[in-house]
Amino acid sequence: MASLEDLIPTVNKLQDVMYSSGIDSLDLPVLAVVGSQSSGKSSILETLVGRDFLPRGTGIVTRRPLVLQLNTIAPPRSTNDEEDSDNDDVDGPHSEWGEFLHKPGEKFYDFDEIRREIENETFRIAGKNKGISKIPINLKIFSPHVLNLTLVDLPGITKVPIGEQPHDIERQIKNLILDYVATPNCLILAVSPANVDLVNSESLKLAKEVDPQGKRTIGVITKLDLMDSGTNALDILQGKVYPLELGFVGVVNRSQQDIQLNVSVNDALDNEEHYFVRHPAYRAIANKCGTRYLAKLLNKTLMAHIRDKLPDIKTKLNNLITRTEKELQKYGDIGTITSQASKAGLILQLINIFAKNFTASIDGNSLNIN
Ligand code: GDP
Ligand code: NA
Ligand code: MG
Repeated sequence: MASLEDLIPTVNKLQDVMYSSGIDSLDLPVLAVVGSQSSGKSSILETLVGRDFLPRGTGIVTRRPLVLQLNTIAPPRSTNDEEDSDNDDVDGPHSEWGEFLHKPGEKFYDFDEIRREIENETFRIAGKNKGISKIPINLKIFSPHVLNLTLVDLPGITKVPIGEQPHDIERQIKNLILDYVATPNCLILAVSPANVDLVNSESLKLAKEVDPQGKRTIGVITKLDLMDSGTNALDILQGKVYPLELGFVGVVNRSQQDIQLNVSVNDALDNEEHYFVRHPAYRAIANKCGTRYLAKLLNKTLMAHIRDKLPDIKTKLNNLITRTEKELQKYGDIGTITSQASKAGLILQLINIFAKNFTASIDGNSLNIN
């Protein structure tokens, strides 16, 4: 029977069908990462994945939305005699991999190659160095070290055009972000760096426009380690400064220097944990700080969100089924099997399977996630 744990993978599959068939009327629940340039969005995503795989650089690096589906898989059987390498690939070479929707059937075991593929795909659709595109890149990561999650990495909010960027780049990026976050099915991960006053946080300003009551926004405070000495963000993290129902989580990602020194994501996670446990101001809330805690919170929140939206998704699915069936009948009347008809038939089949899966998910659960 389907369990609550299956909700995210099921939505992921449904999302794939929708993207592949060009239907985007379902507005499936997602988690979108929003923040100004260099606020630490990519760092958070890499830490959640546990691997380095995102393009780096100055200027606007993320120029197409990256829909990142994280899928938990069972770890390979342990081999105790395995050499300890400084590679991040802790379980051996084929234990984790990536797959792109635009390259079906191809498994990327080399995460540097994943980075290059993201870059190439960005260039292919959005051009070499300026424009942005709304067409997402869909990447799945399979790993024993991730929790099931679907995140969308979006271009950073920017104020000043750089180089050959169009003069209205700020508006273009804002519109692209709004495309995602305006729908009530989108959870917003609003990233704000701790070394910038929260009232100036671009991500919170934008989130407030579409979620004025702060019901579907999760605040993330990055760069806690870069705050002026003697100051801290305890009040923010405890929800005393800015009202968000889902609260704030503080993180410490790798610094630019850490990256240059090739500090691995795993070491960074351990350093982060030590940072909070040792810090006089954060010690007391250390169990609710850091990227490991953030991963659990996001997984739980996304599951709960999907659960709440299931009735709505079911209604939309049923409408879609009815519509597609009608379309299919139309082809039937003409009496020819066109490729369009077979495509519609296939989509219908898939959607029906997922609709059943959803029903099982709703009916088979006490739905208690706390
Ligand atoms: P993005 O533009 O929002 O994706 O930001 P990045 O994740 O690329 O981070 C921008 C820069 O800030 C990089 O040099 C990171 O190493 C650095 N950075 C991100 N988070 C932190 C943090 O928590 N502490 C420190 N010291 N540096 C950070
Ligand atoms: Na921000
Ligand atoms: Mg980035």
